[in-house]
Amino acid sequence: MAILAVASGKGGAGKTSLVVSLADYWSSRCGLKVAALDLDPNSNLLDWIGDAGMPNVTCIRVTEDTVFDAAIAANTEHDIVLIDVAGVLSQGMLFAVGAADAVLIPANPSRPDIIEASRTNGVIDHVEKTARKHNPTAVIPRAVVLNRSKRREVMTAKAREFITAAELPLLDSDLADRVCFREAWLLHRAPLSMGDKDAVRDVETLAAEISDRLGIGPKAAKKRSKRAKATTEA
Ligand SMILES: Nc1ncnc2c1ncn2[C@@H]1O[C@H](COP(=O)(O)OP(=O)(O)OP(=O)(O)O)[C@@H](O)[C@H]1O
Ligand SMILES: [Mg+2]
Repeated sequence: MAILAVASGKGGAGKTSLVVSLADYWSSRCGLKVAALDLDPNSNLLDWIGDAGMPNVTCIRVTEDTVFDAAIAANTEHDIVLIDVAGVLSQGMLFAVGAADAVLIPANPSRPDIIEASRTNGVIDHVEKTARKHNPTAVIPRAVVLNRSKRREVMTAKAREFITAAELPLLDSDLADRVCFREAWLLHRAPLSMGDKDAVRDVETLAAEISDRLGIGPKAAKKRSKRAKATTEA
């Protein structure tokens, strides 16, 4: 019922970790049916979720040729579709963003990550402009999320200043730099099952803000499904 692309032209920004964490949260804590589309040929996402065993998450391998149609098709059967977009500016990113209802752009608190976040935001602007040729009110909500943030460090505050100065929409919530996220990746486990309450709180808070700012989450899924039911009955 809603498609969220997680994209940045920068490798290592945290796309796969965010997709797995959000898929884990929305499926295991909110009872939603989630589809996770892996657009990265190295299949990190599929291998991780496959090994972790997330019963309410369907993993789908896609390519730049299939991502658009696969996302639209998965959206009819799932509450939320997440797309893990490979870390390069590519045709695949364009098609993933074109299919998406909203885009999340992860960035570590580093200059190269922020530069790539800005480029990715530019790609989204272009896709939005293309959509506006046909629908003048078309909007693709998007936001940068800081990942691996060290909340007490000056560098993190500076990174927030840079992102805001670059006029990029920035979420207040972030994912802190936590061993738990690294371990979950290494051991291919569900991040929320690692027993780190702070990590769970990070993901919960982030998901709540994604719901408020980007309109993706259980509340929005319920509203959309009511609307779809009303349309079918009419
Ligand atoms: N919040 C976090 N705390 C600690 N480590 C993290 C966090 N997020 C990601 N990492 C680590 O950073 C590395 C890169 O993360 P990840 O693979 O999710 O990024 P990516 O954007 O998907 O990379 P790629 O473009 O290569 O696919 C991994 O080793 C991961 O464990
Ligand atoms: Mg990845």
